[in-house]
Amino acid sequence: MNTKAPRKKSWAEPFKIKMVELIKMTSYEDRFKAIREAGYNTFLLRSKDVYIDLLTDSGTSAMSDRQWSGLMMGDEAYAGSRNFYHLRDTVEEYYSYKYTVPAHQGRGAEHILSQLLIKEGDRVPGNMYFTTTRLHQELAGGVFVDVIIDEAHDPANEHPFKGNVDFNKLDALVNEIGAKRIPYVCIATAVNMAGGQPISLENLRKLRQWCDEHKITIVHDMTRVAENAYFIKDREPGCADMSIAEIVYEICSLTDIATMSAKKDAMVNIGGFLAMNDKDLYDRACNMVVVYEGLHTYGGMAGRDMEALAIGITESVDYDHIRARVGQVLYLGDRLIEAGVPIVRPVGGHAVFLDARNILSHIPQEQFPAQALAAAIYTQSGVRSMERGAVSAGRNKETGENYMPKLELVRLTIPRRVYTQAHMDVTAEGVIEVYENTDKVKGLRFTYEPEVLRFFQGRFEEVE
Ligand code: F0G
Repeated sequence: MNTKAPRKKSWAEPFKIKMVELIKMTSYEDRFKAIREAGYNTFLLRSKDVYIDLLTDSGTSAMSDRQWSGLMMGDEAYAGSRNFYHLRDTVEEYYSYKYTVPAHQGRGAEHILSQLLIKEGDRVPGNMYFTTTRLHQELAGGVFVDVIIDEAHDPANEHPFKGNVDFNKLDALVNEIGAKRIPYVCIATAVNMAGGQPISLENLRKLRQWCDEHKITIVHDMTRVAENAYFIKDREPGCADMSIAEIVYEICSLTDIATMSAKKDAMVNIGGFLAMNDKDLYDRACNMVVVYEGLHTYGGMAGRDMEALAIGITESVDYDHIRARVGQVLYLGDRLIEAGVPIVRPVGGHAVFLDARNILSHIPQEQFPAQALAAAIYTQSGVRSMERGAVSAGRNKETGENYMPKLELVRLTIPRRVYTQAHMDVTAEGVIEVYENTDKVKGLRFTYEPEVLRFFQGRFEEVE
């Protein structure tokens, strides 16, 4: 008898469903009208007009029965809620950081950290920008510098760790301005704007050494750290026998400070935190959080939400959970690859990113092909996606010019534990239909352009 368990091929979900939310398929005519009313911006659609909502995985995941029961255990004391201490202890146990300051969501933590550490004229290197992160760095007087490896900017490149840092770029920055003008290096795990691409443990260990040599702090945007850990286990030599929890813990231990949008990995509908090991910085953060978020033992979160978050953290590092989560994303990606649709390779952890520049090659980047593609997919299929290209990139703070990023993408983002494999099939069919009829899709121009984070509320019209 063969006693060795066979390697499981299927990524079947480690849960069953005990409550459902009904959704409605809409007609092509309704959607045609709705997207025009929304100014061709999927952020401005009403969710009742959406069939499968892949706008974001942020705050859209399904909580477990344990998390829901945690809500009933909310201690809504203004100060010193027991749920805060549960959260703080869980963060230390799973993520290694000693001190936790809750925040209403990720950008609340980013705001406080940026104001505390960045001075006018500082440069902040990072493994690709994220919209809210870079804006808070800029509002604090800093300038973001991209130090991710070049491969990350090429959708077709199959590099297994496209989230890695390029040390030549870091060295060049230090040579140019000196380490003193670099308050920290900002490292995201499962880099969102690159396509959900992981950083390797090897690269992070090297970064730790580099930062120690230059006496520079590492800030970890740990929003999707468990997804990154899954790819390390799957791809990095020597890591196959580590548990997801061990990898997550080691990643965090290699960094000094973390900002967390708990609405992703940790599967709560709202919440986040700032975490660190430096007591002095913690004291300063506590002093600031009372101004913008709330007392340092709730920071804008209800006690019940801190409880659900503490429980969500423990669920997020479970191997079967994360394997099924990433497995579902890979499934959708594979269906699109089979049909020849150009997408970012390898498929990332939280979303499939369509290469809009390639799919709509007749639309110049100045006419926002990714924005147009997201609108077309919605109109065709009722699937809501998000632009992640020139509209999201915004304008250069100093010159006012539009950034024209190499990655002009549409993100199909999968909420955790929400949709089924059949939903992924329907999504793939919808995207493939648009891909086969791209000549009908027109470019767009702004009719209203907000000053900051313009992708959220901007409005557009078709260019004839
Ligand atoms: N960092 C990363 C990597 C993110 O993906 C997000 C949010 C944030 C920080 C900010 O956190 O939304 O809780 O304030 N990303 C969402 C998305 C909005 O759709 O990717 P937040």
